[in-house]
Amino acid sequence: GSHDESHETHEDPPDDGSSSPPHSTLAPFSRPMPLSPTLRPVRRDAEADYYRITMAETEAEILPGMSTPVFTYEGYFPGPTIRAHAGRRVIVEQLNLLDRPTAVHLHGGVVAARDDGNPMDPIPPGGARTYSYPNEQAAAPLWFHDHAHHAESEHVYRGLAGFYLLHDGPERRLGLPGGKFDVPIMIRDAQLGQHGELVYVANNQPGRTTVLVNGVPDPYFTVDARKYRFRLLNAANMGFFRLQLSDGEFVQIGSDRGLLAAPYRTRQLYLSPGERADVVVDFSRYRVGGHVDLCRLATVDAEPVPILRFMVVPATHDPSVVPDHLATLPPVREPDVTRDFSLRTEGTAFTINGRTYDHTRVDTAVRWGDTEEWRVTNDDPMAHNLHLHLVEFRVVDRDGRPPDPGEAGLKDTVRIGPGETVRLRATFDTFEGRYVYHCHLLDHSSMGMMAVMDIGR
Ligand code: C2O
Ligand code: CU
Repeated sequence: GSHDESHETHEDPPDDGSSSPPHSTLAPFSRPMPLSPTLRPVRRDAEADYYRITMAETEAEILPGMSTPVFTYEGYFPGPTIRAHAGRRVIVEQLNLLDRPTAVHLHGGVVAARDDGNPMDPIPPGGARTYSYPNEQAAAPLWFHDHAHHAESEHVYRGLAGFYLLHDGPERRLGLPGGKFDVPIMIRDAQLGQHGELVYVANNQPGRTTVLVNGVPDPYFTVDARKYRFRLLNAANMGFFRLQLSDGEFVQIGSDRGLLAAPYRTRQLYLSPGERADVVVDFSRYRVGGHVDLCRLATVDAEPVPILRFMVVPATHDPSVVPDHLATLPPVREPDVTRDFSLRTEGTAFTINGRTYDHTRVDTAVRWGDTEEWRVTNDDPMAHNLHLHLVEFRVVDRDGRPPDPGEAGLKDTVRIGPGETVRLRATFDTFEGRYVYHCHLLDHSSMGMMAVMDIGR
């Protein structure tokens, strides 16, 4: 048999990550992948779609038969999905019923500073705050998550994350798989204790050995033998995901902030925390009645470990297409300003240019309208990445080599391996004001690897 005897123990798990997760009573790939519900607006008018979300502690069944206390948006783990349309404003009232301050950030959103969920703009316990999202930007797989000061890491880990999928007319006219064939998939890792609880130990990546796909380990998803669009998000605090299908390849059509210029066929995807890949998988190429797995690999040629099983069933008709031309990307402009950044740990301090986050300090004063080139070096033996609020950027090169096509589109988060230097360019021509930029390994940002940019005239 494949089951070990069950482990009945009432000892608390050690906090060093050496404990193995509790044994599941179900065989892997025997639970359906949860689909995050699309939230309905409470009201619509000529101005906007209005949503109301309550943040609260609830319970989720991460492991079968066990209930895990989690933090949720509107009761869902992971959070519900908001679907927005370019040119139409979304207004979200967030009510905080947790016992601690929160702040809600729309990751990838071009929003005014007061609506950005800045760590210093918290919603107190019992309080509420209304965020306004103009959606004056291209279709993209955005997401919203907690950003409370020094606590975003634990809050996101405990569940405060949801998709925000922005659609627009040009994207709709492409005829990509849509409706129920456009599926958000949130991937993260976690350390589960003996009672199924989420164990949060800051900076303890080795302990987070359980991969959750839309909130559960090892789910299956039944797919028609046709094309699907998947919005893959790495929502892990610190884990990197190198993904591959057990057979075949992904057609990557978009990255963090929108569609690529052209589809990019690739065997592997590599996502650091916060990054998204918009992909199409054509299941008509697989045997009906069979399955194909989404796998994670530790390194480029490591053994693929399945994390999600697609079960292929007959399809009716598939009118969807993936056109050869997807979008016209704006040209990468020549920089007005060039800056250097260094990501480095010093003891327990996680720093950018030698300093930890101080919300009262402006680290980078940006002139509105400028294009800046940031040369960002990871001076650590560990991996980092960099996320800029507000702006989209383009990756110019990585250690002098051009980015691969999957990284050459519109980005807001970029991985930076140990010792690597990544050059990126952004044009600051939307909102003015103070925004943060930070490593999106949230345990690092919570420990200071975050800084302030002030965009002004
Ligand atoms: Cu997704 Cu400042 O973060
Ligand atoms: Cu980092």
